[in-house]
Amino acid sequence: MAGGSAPDREVVLETDRLLLRPWRVAEAAVQRELWTERDPRVPPHRRIDEEGRPTVADLEESIRSSEPPSSTGLLAVERKATLDVIGYCGLVDSGRGAAGKPELAFELLRRVWGRGYATEASLAVLDWARASGHERLWATVWEWNTASRRVLAKVGFTETGHTEVDPVHGTTLMTMCRL
Ligand SMILES: CC(C)(COP(=O)(O)OP(=O)(O)OC[C@H]1O[C@@H](n2cnc3c(N)ncnc32)[C@H](O)[C@@H]1OP(=O)(O)O)[C@@H](O)C(=O)NCCC(=O)NCCS
Repeated sequence: MAGGSAPDREVVLETDRLLLRPWRVAEAAVQRELWTERDPRVPPHRRIDEEGRPTVADLEESIRSSEPPSSTGLLAVERKATLDVIGYCGLVDSGRGAAGKPELAFELLRRVWGRGYATEASLAVLDWARASGHERLWATVWEWNTASRRVLAKVGFTETGHTEVDPVHGTTLMTMCRL
């Protein structure tokens, strides 16, 4: 991993195959594709609603008005060979982890699953978190989400034993990684 963050500089992380950098407004259609592809077990507030929202225009506005990532944030994942954006990976302050301990998050387009991209991107984000001074990261994952659980295990997360049971959407597992 190369790159890093500074208050006046864009966060750009580089791996063998990927660049992780801020979203561009023109990439809102990729975000919408991610929304349309979500598993039906994902709660409704993270899925396209009956009115078709968020629309591409909604997502464009959200990118336009968002603070660029600094020590946390979700970065667009771009493939260096083809220059296409395939999803995101980064850190979010969800409020579920302990204060000041952000969560790792990732989501990629289905057509690129199974090629190690989420693992590669996550390792770069772990380096970024370490360089930002974090000592631990958290991640929450649905018990049924085998691929995500596997990625978390591969990059060093272990289950804390804390779970949240939702009778409709399933059980959420809390995981943690020491950096
Ligand atoms: C989770 C996600 C990002 C993984 O992306 P990816 O690039 O395919 O991940 P990788 O290729 O780095 O690793 C996936 C691992 O899961 C394994 N895997 C995938 N589906 C699996 C399944 N159904 N059963 C068992 N293992 C599975 C793969 O074999 C691989 O492990 P391996 O390297 O030991 O073979 C992708 O599936 C995704 O975007 N899912 C929807 C969003 C999501 O769930 N985000 C996480 C929320 S916590």
